Amino acid sequence: MLRLLLLQASVNRRTSSACLYPHLAKLSSPALLLTRCLSSSSPQIPNGSYVEHLDNKDNHLDNNDNQTTPQATATISIDRSGLCNPPEHSHGPTSDSELVKHLKGIIKFRGGPISVAEYMKEVLTNPKAGFYINRDVFGAEGDFITSPEVSQMFGEMIGVWAMCLWEQMGQPNRVNLVELGPGRGTLMMDLLRGASKFRHFTESLHVHMVECSPTLQKIQHQNLKCVDDHMANNVGQRTVSTLAGTPVSWHAALEQVPSGLPTIIIAHEFYDALPVHQFQRTSRGWCEKMIDLAEDLTFRFVLSPQPTPAILSLLKRCKWAVTEEIAKLDQIEVCPKAMDLTQSIAKRISYDGGGALIIDYGLNGVVSDSLQAIRKHKFVNILDDPGSADLSAYVDFDSIRHSAQEASGEVSVHGPMTQSQFLGSLGINFRVEALLQNSTEEQAESLRTGYWRLVGEGEAPFWEGPEEEVPIGMGTRYMAMAIVNKKQGVPVPFQ
Ligand SMILES: C[S@@+](CC[C@H](N)C(=O)[O-])C[C@H]1O[C@@H](n2cnc3c(N)ncnc32)[C@H](O)[C@@H]1O
Repeated sequence: MLRLLLLQASVNRRTSSACLYPHLAKLSSPALLLTRCLSSSSPQIPNGSYVEHLDNKDNHLDNNDNQTTPQATATISIDRSGLCNPPEHSHGPTSDSELVKHLKGIIKFRGGPISVAEYMKEVLTNPKAGFYINRDVFGAEGDFITSPEVSQMFGEMIGVWAMCLWEQMGQPNRVNLVELGPGRGTLMMDLLRGASKFRHFTESLHVHMVECSPTLQKIQHQNLKCVDDHMANNVGQRTVSTLAGTPVSWHAALEQVPSGLPTIIIAHEFYDALPVHQFQRTSRGWCEKMIDLAEDLTFRFVLSPQPTPAILSLLKRCKWAVTEEIAKLDQIEVCPKAMDLTQSIAKRISYDGGGALIIDYGLNGVVSDSLQAIRKHKFVNILDDPGSADLSAYVDFDSIRHSAQEASGEVSVHGPMTQSQFLGSLGINFRVEALLQNSTEEQAESLRTGYWRLVGEGEAPFWEGPEEEVPIGMGTRYMAMAIVNKKQGVPVPFQ
């Protein structure tokens, strides 16, 4: 059905787009103009279908060569937000990994349990053995797939958003473009490639990748097609992405990105990896859920016997909610790191100008119990073989809004709106139509499926493959929120 509609749409753009996407009535014309002019109208990511993913981006068609035959690799891709936790704890490996030994060491050394947040931080980012640190966790051999990996159109649309904001900022000639948690660098790759025709914009950029994983930093360097330039008189080295001639630097944290320039910050699926504390309502009041060692030396959940320091974050979060919202919950998750990060972002934007875009899955309200573990595209128990599965939690967008507003009166917060509204308003339907016109049948199939996954809701109605592989839309599960300096006005497409 969708395929048919899209084919019709390419014949008669204006009418069919309007009836396919009612929200396009509110389209922002600068965004649309940019979307229509993006570099290359050839698909770069010729995934065959929902279950196929091309790992080697060098095999993609590039702007001038749409004769190349791409090699696709089969993978299973899973929308993380639609799965649920298994009820039972499966048994882990017989011998402890380095990370398990480390976690047990902390618990034994302290003589007591650790918080879920400390466990999550160690599991994901322990510098020696954290989940993200030593391997590529995305795609066929990895554990999950994200929107930039689903379709090139995602990064291109984020590029349109960034260019619109840059225009609202008065087209400054030097801008820091910061990406938090860039994964494989796919979003930035598609953003730079898509924007490369807009020289005035790309020449203003210095890209800053905030990434804790040395392995992923290397992959990002490759995907951005970086070259390391030795500067005159051997005074240092400068790394430049040849995709748009843009300098690129890497940092372990946002604080390390130099300030003093107008800044555009992108955080896609970054907040969901920040450590959360979990609380449970008991007859003694709210108790923090902790992780301890059972007698058989396996991990188990316990409740803190007395208040923990994180109770302060819980109290802060509850103050921002209405009493009825809290009254109906027996469990609450809070993410002090998300609150702190948002405050840093808001302060930076208020001093330097610019804005931030946060896209993630979550709720516009208090989150109850969302922490989940995914290994090889399947849900597993959170305590099972830590370090071998991704841990992530729903993002509390309401708490992000309050944190930003508390940090600075100079910024305004917009959204959240659904990913479907966000991408639709930026003109993703025009982009898919343009790409479809220059695509092979295999690429067209991949584009339609990718498009559906990004903006659709529920199961794809056009799917004709195996039932268990039906693409699930991420369009309403993922949400977009912007924090901008008030001087810039309301950002596209939140007007
Ligand atoms: C879920 S992945 C998202 C990747 C990418 N944004 C995407 O959508 O494909 C999270 C990313 O954040 C990075 N990361 C997680 N925690 C981090 C931290 N505390 N500091 C810096 N990077 C972090 C991971 O290494 C990874 O690149």
